[in-house]
Parts: sequence; structure tokens; C-alpha cells
Amino acid sequence: MIVGIVSGKGGVGKTTIASNLSYYLSQMGRDVTLVDCNVTTSHLNFNFGFYGFVKTLNNVLRGEAELWEVTYKYRNLNIVPASLRLEDLNYIDLAALPRAIRNIKSEFVFLDSAPGFGREAMSVLTSVDAVLIVTTPFMCSIADILRMRKIVSELNIETLGIVVNMVKGKNYELSKREIEAITGIKVVECVPYDENVEYSLSLGKPFIEIFPETKASLAIKRLANKLFGVEEIKKVGFLNEIKKGLIEFLKGKFKII
Ligand SMILES: Nc1ncnc2c1ncn2[C@@H]1O[C@H](COP(=O)(O)OP(=O)(O)O)[C@@H](O)[C@H]1O
Ligand SMILES: [Mg+2]
Repeated sequence: MIVGIVSGKGGVGKTTIASNLSYYLSQMGRDVTLVDCNVTTSHLNFNFGFYGFVKTLNNVLRGEAELWEVTYKYRNLNIVPASLRLEDLNYIDLAALPRAIRNIKSEFVFLDSAPGFGREAMSVLTSVDAVLIVTTPFMCSIADILRMRKIVSELNIETLGIVVNMVKGKNYELSKREIEAITGIKVVECVPYDENVEYSLSLGKPFIEIFPETKASLAIKRLANKLFGVEEIKKVGFLNEIKKGLIEFLKGKFKII
């Protein structure tokens, strides 16, 4: 399944959600490839602490390389980065993206999109089976979703739903219900604003890797479960097992409950 992580407005958390959701699914044993399709302002590399590559997606879009030649590994996750060099924007053909993406054999392929509806973002929309829309709980980014909805329906793409990101729970934020009423699209998950997200970015690691129990990580896990039925099997510690056994024993002895 090829899924575009998209938004109308920029800076809402597409790269962050795409990186952490992909990393989590790959850690849960799924075959996942994450592609940086924001070629003009590429940021995906920073989320994984990668800075220089011999070859990138830009070479594929110039017809100089095949996708497998520009696929790198971060633990189990396959990543296709875009170049950070301005000169690498010369002679790239965005129309070559859909065919290149269709050649990826992974179970899940996530495309980290540029914002809006320009040529770069449209190249993602013409490459995917489905989109996951990321927004913040504010009117300016919600209004762009209405435009996105129109384009997505014209292109016959499935909408997996909306992820509301950087939620602080303030009364001036739009609620999940309000966002659903305005857009007519289901909100699958709300990811809270969490300082560990930016701290992890400064370390060049997905936050779900170094803070697996932080609030934003728990939201990503719920998202993966709701969208793809992927669930973490909690390991119950030895002491917890003893505690559970003791409680059961006492319940029996004193006929509690
Ligand atoms: N839930 C969150 N809590 C705190 N900071 C976040 C959260 N999500 C994203 N950010 C930060 O917001 C900034 C923009 O996120 P990014 O994923 O690059 O957005 P986009 O890809 O939509 O432009 C980054 O610095 C990122 O670390
Ligand atoms: Mg981005």
C-alpha cells in the first residue's frame, strides 16, 4: 500500500508523523519504505541523523539510478532520501516519480510530501493509493484540507483520515468533533504537542525510538493500530507476573469481588 503523508499547510508535522509511524511499523516486523518526496526542502534526513549520500531520489528522477540503488537502512526501515544540495534540483523530472514508486516492493510505502498543491505535492498525489492528512488544530490548516479533499476525490484516492498534530488541549484550538464537522473527514488520532519530539529531532532519532512511552509515541502506536491493525505485544515483567498471581490468590482466599 502506497500512502502519501500530506497537508495543505507546511510545518504541521508531516515529516515527523511519517518518520515515526514508518519506524514503528518497521520495528513491529513490517516491511516499510519511507520516501522523501519533498525534494525542494528536504527534511527527512534530519529525523534519522543522515546528512550526506552518494546517490538520492534526485538521481532516480534524473534517470541516473534505480530506486534500489538509493535505498538506505535505518535499523529495519528502508529510507529513500532526497538530496540536500541545491544543484541537485537541476534536471529532475517529477513525472518520473509514480513509476519509480510503483517499483518498490515493500508492504507499506510512505511518501513524505511537500505541503500544498504545487507540482511537488501533486507528484505525490499521483503516485499513491491513499493519503493520511496531517493538520494542526487551527483554522488555517483545516481550511486547506477542504481543497485537499476536492483534489483527492478527483484523483480517486482513498483518504485514511486526519491526524491532528501538536494538540495542546487549549480552549482556542478546534476540537476533533469540530474538525470532523468542517472537513467531513474522520480524525483518526490526535498527537499531543510534546517537547520530546523536538529533543529527538536534535539527536537525529525518531522520538518513538528513544521515548517509546512519551505521549506522542503512544499516539503513534494507537494510529498504527487503528489504521493497519499493528499492535505492540507488551512484555509482562517477571515481578508483575508474581504480583498478578498473588492478587489472584488473595482474591480466592478472602473471596474479594
Ligand atoms: N507533536 C509534536 N510536538 C512537538 N513538536 C512537534 C510535533 N510534531 C512536529 N513537531 C515539530 O514541528 C516542526 C515541524 O514538523 P515537520 O514534521 O517538519 O512538519 P512538516 O513536515 O509538515 O513541514 C519540527 O521541528 C518538529 O520537530
Ligand atoms: Mg516535511
